Amino acid sequence: MKTPKRIQPLVEAGLVDEVLRRLMSGKEADVFVVRCGDEIRCAKVYKEAAKRSFKKAALYQEGRKVRNSRRARAMEKGSKFGRKQQEETWQSAEVDALFKLANAGVRVPQPHICLEGVLLMELVTDEDGDVASRLSDVSMSEEQALEDHALVMHYVKLMLCAGLVHGDLSEFNVLVNQDGPVIIDLPQAVDAAGNNNARSMLERDIENMNHYYGQFAPELLNARYAQEMWQLFEDGELTPETELTGQFKVEEVAADVDSIMEEIKAAMEEEQERLERIKDANNPE
Ligand SMILES: Nc1ncnc2c1ncn2[C@@H]1O[C@H](COP(=O)(O)OP(=O)(O)OP(=O)(O)O)[C@@H](O)[C@H]1O
Ligand SMILES: [Mg+2]
Repeated sequence: MKTPKRIQPLVEAGLVDEVLRRLMSGKEADVFVVRCGDEIRCAKVYKEAAKRSFKKAALYQEGRKVRNSRRARAMEKGSKFGRKQQEETWQSAEVDALFKLANAGVRVPQPHICLEGVLLMELVTDEDGDVASRLSDVSMSEEQALEDHALVMHYVKLMLCAGLVHGDLSEFNVLVNQDGPVIIDLPQAVDAAGNNNARSMLERDIENMNHYYGQFAPELLNARYAQEMWQLFEDGELTPETELTGQFKVEEVAADVDSIMEEIKAAMEEEQERLERIKDANNPE
């Protein structure tokens, strides 16, 4: 097909040889299948900020570290330069997250480079070389659902150990091939320790997964991986080796009823004495 204008800089840089076809047109990006030498890859072209929701971006970006202070100041001011900087930060967030997560052992598309708002990465395919299905288009046995759900929970745990929460994990952002689930779509990944919304995003991400796999394995509907993971994370005890159970109990210290009754009795006696003293003072003999 004719090279889209936005991919032209990558062709000029020698990174892409040919654009084969458009794969998807999503809310935030257009995705193309491209040829790089003798490899077939995926090019994700981010849409401009104006076409995305900025209110949402602010929620996700809280706590995200911007290394360059001139950039940080410009972003705060919201100037044109600031918006451009914010745009670049948003775009580079996905490639940064992909490198970080691939290193941490999470199955994600192998990233190559992000240039001029285009992310070049591995095209996830199935055994026949066709583009992998989205989880939303796949149904499975109970056994398979339990196995894949456990693997996704393992990935979510590795992400959290690497300091990230996906923030938009759903059956539309997980691909599936013969090797199991692959996590995609990470420009909004949030900083687990610095973002006040991280906990609720983790809960929502996991809830989505429980709900999807729960269609095939209903026992997953009551699993409590989010609470379990967050508690361990907060206590500094979550490691890549942590074995998750999906069970979570709020710690309750058994109330010591006897001593509470003693306290109440003593307080009542004291009050009685006080009333009697007042009565005596008011009725001197
Ligand atoms: N590396 C990849 N390999 C194969 N298919 C991919 C890859 N990346 C994206 N896709 C396909 O393109 C679709 C859109 O990609 P992605 O979710 O990253 O972008 P998006 O614009 O945020 O989409 P949406 O708004 O629909 O979530 C995916 O659902 C998937 O079908
Ligand atoms: Mg998506």
